[in-house]
Amino acid sequence: MVSGFGITSKGEKAKLYSIKNGKGMEIAVTDYGATLVKVFVPDKENVLQDVVLGYDSAEGYEKGDVYFGASVGRVANRIGGASFELNGKTYKLTANADGNSLHGGCDFYNKRMWKTVKAEDRSITFSLCSPDGDQGYPGKADIFITYELTEDNELKIHYHAVSDADTIMNLTNHSYFNLSGHASKTALDQEVMIAADAYTRADAESIPTGELVPVDGTPMDFREYKVIGQEIEADYEDLVLGKGYDHNWVLNGNGMRPVARMRSKETGIMMEVMTDLPGMQFYTGNFIISEAGKEGAEYKKRHGVCFETQYFPDAIHKEHFEGPVVKAGEAYDTTTVYKFLVEE
Ligand code: BGC
Repeated sequence: MVSGFGITSKGEKAKLYSIKNGKGMEIAVTDYGATLVKVFVPDKENVLQDVVLGYDSAEGYEKGDVYFGASVGRVANRIGGASFELNGKTYKLTANADGNSLHGGCDFYNKRMWKTVKAEDRSITFSLCSPDGDQGYPGKADIFITYELTEDNELKIHYHAVSDADTIMNLTNHSYFNLSGHASKTALDQEVMIAADAYTRADAESIPTGELVPVDGTPMDFREYKVIGQEIEADYEDLVLGKGYDHNWVLNGNGMRPVARMRSKETGIMMEVMTDLPGMQFYTGNFIISEAGKEGAEYKKRHGVCFETQYFPDAIHKEHFEGPVVKAGEAYDTTTVYKFLVEE
C-alpha cells in the first residue's frame, strides 16, 4: 500500500509504503531518506504496538536532527578530525561533531529523496546515487537499500552499493526502538543483551582510542539480559564521557549471526538483532531533548534505543579495525535483521 507522506521544503512529494505479512506484522517506510517510519508488532495480548520512534510526515523528518529511522551514510558514526587518507590522497569532510565528522557530516542521506526502484508485496528497494565528492567522499556510489518483511516476523535491511572509485562506506539504520510502544516514554525499563566480550573505548569526543576493552566487570557488560537503566548512571568513566550508552560493541563471531536482543516485560515483545557486520553502536537516545513525534507523542531523553550495526567508528584511522574501504567496482553488501517474537 502506498500513500502520500507530505511535501518537503524543496517541493518533493514523499510517499509512505506499507508492507504487511500474514502474521499481523506491518512496517512502513518512506522514500524520504529511505527511512523506517513504523514497525507494528502484535504484543502478548495481540494488540499491535508500533515499536519505533518517528514523525507523522516527511516534514517532521526534514526538521528532525536525531535520525529517527534514518538510513545513514556514506559513513555512519564518527571519523576523527573530519578527514582521512586513501591511496595517498587526503579527503576533507564536514566537521559537525567537535571537529569530527558524524553520519556523513553534511547533506545527510536521510534528508534526501531516494528513488523507489522496486516495490513488491513483501519488500521495497530504494536507491540513491551519491556522486563523486559527495560529502567529501571519493567515488560515485550507487546505493540500494531493501526493506523486507518475512513470514518469520523478520525485518531485513539489505544494503548494496558499488562505487566507481575506491572509497569508504559504512551504512546503517538509526531506528530508535521502544518495545513497550513508541509513545510509552522511557525505554530504560526494558532489557538488552549484546553478544560482545569487548567494546571500543572512546575519548570525550566519542572517537575510539583504538583500545578494545573487555566488558567483564564493567557496566558495559550485556552478555546476559540486563535492564538498560540498571547501570546507565554508574560512575564509570567511559559511560560518563558518552553521557550514557553510546559506544561500539565488538560483536562476537563473524558472518550472519544473532548479536543482540531487547525485550519488554510489559508487552512481551522481544527483538533479536542479527548482522554480518563486526560492530554495533548501542545508543540509548541520550541526546533527545523533546521531539514532537507520531500521533502526538512527545519523545524525550532515552525514550528509544538504537542498535546501529556497523564497521567500527573511525576504522579508517585504525589499522586493526576492519573495513571500511570499498574498492572500485566491488560490491558493498551487508544485511541486518530485526526479528520480533512474543514471550508470554
Ligand atoms: C551517535 C551519537 C549521536 C547520535 C545522533 C549516534 O549514532 O553515536 O553520538 O548523538 O547518533 O542521533
